[in-house]
Amino acid sequence: MERSESESIKGVIITGGSGFIGSHMTVALRSRGVPVAIVDRNSPPLVDVNLFVKGAIEDESTWVRLGNELSFEVDTLFHLAARTSVLESINDPSDVFESNLVGFHKALEFCRRSGIGRVGFASTNAAVGNGTTGIITEEAPLLPLTPYGATKAAGEMLASAYTASYGIDVASVRLTNVYGPGMWRKDSIVPRLFRHAVGLSDFAIYGDGQQFRDFVYVKDVVDAFLTLAECRFSGPVSFGSGSSVTVNELVKFVGETSGISIKPRRIPPKPGEMAGVEISLELASKLGLRSEVSLRDGLKMAWENFQEEQGQAAG
Ligand SMILES: NC(=O)c1ccc[n+]([C@@H]2O[C@H](COP(=O)([O-])OP(=O)(O)OC[C@H]3O[C@@H](n4cnc5c(N)ncnc54)[C@H](O)[C@@H]3O)[C@@H](O)[C@H]2O)c1
Repeated sequence: MERSESESIKGVIITGGSGFIGSHMTVALRSRGVPVAIVDRNSPPLVDVNLFVKGAIEDESTWVRLGNELSFEVDTLFHLAARTSVLESINDPSDVFESNLVGFHKALEFCRRSGIGRVGFASTNAAVGNGTTGIITEEAPLLPLTPYGATKAAGEMLASAYTASYGIDVASVRLTNVYGPGMWRKDSIVPRLFRHAVGLSDFAIYGDGQQFRDFVYVKDVVDAFLTLAECRFSGPVSFGSGSSVTVNELVKFVGETSGISIKPRRIPPKPGEMAGVEISLELASKLGLRSEVSLRDGLKMAWENFQEEQGQAAG
């Protein structure tokens, strides 16, 4: 693990830039005047971007097109593209392997060939699995419970090799549950609770709801990636709010935020679910990363945005 002097970012490629975190990252970089190229297999996000290349990251042809079309200097790649559903990864491990690991390898190769020296890799605490008890630190053994977690753990190994062999700095950011505006279509727990609150879908709690999770606001995550790239950090770092709540508590908070009483169904626990996630922010804090938005404030902003987006979609 290393941290060097701060160095500004000149130009960026974001894989998965059409997604939830990627579109916030694009806005943050464009507002700083940094040119951004996005590679994504979905349509471009509705934000200002300098180049958009549509394609799958596991296809070499996508990277060839990117290389041909790039017209500005790039020194940093943020790798966010991934199949993100843990449960889908259990049902279709081959597909998640192609997207998450082959795709990341192609991204690292593009960096090696193009002289891009800084990478931010969106990893996850699911790479750690249940390999440790108590508070999760960067020293915990990587014992993922699902194919999704395994592809991220393997991605961190690739990152380590590309740092040692080719001098590319890769910050592997082990994110907890990220939430915020712009996620209303996603399958994660906060938007599922929002959809349930307005009567759009069912919501069930797996097990007794006492499993605890860490929820971090998307702006804090974007700021963390930019800080790590600027200080050329290399290695794994956990990042989240540093303060966990149980699923039952989250349900209560969403009920209070929305003013709607939420009564979820209870169903048996699912395979591959971590019993609890509580992370140490010690390294993150030393590197200058901050989780500034409280869960209550963040939920309020996410809920307001959810209602707007939902109203637009309905109207
Ligand atoms: N959101 C979270 O809570 C969370 C937590 C831990 C880690 N992460 C990681 O952060 C990253 C971004 O997460 P997100 O919430 O913005 O996800 P998202 O699903 O909203 O965005 C992912 C984007 O990647 C694109 N993509 C997926 N596979 C691709 C492929 N093979 N080729 C090209 N594009 C592809 C999708 O089209 C999508 O636009 C992911 O790597 C995810 O694993 C997210």
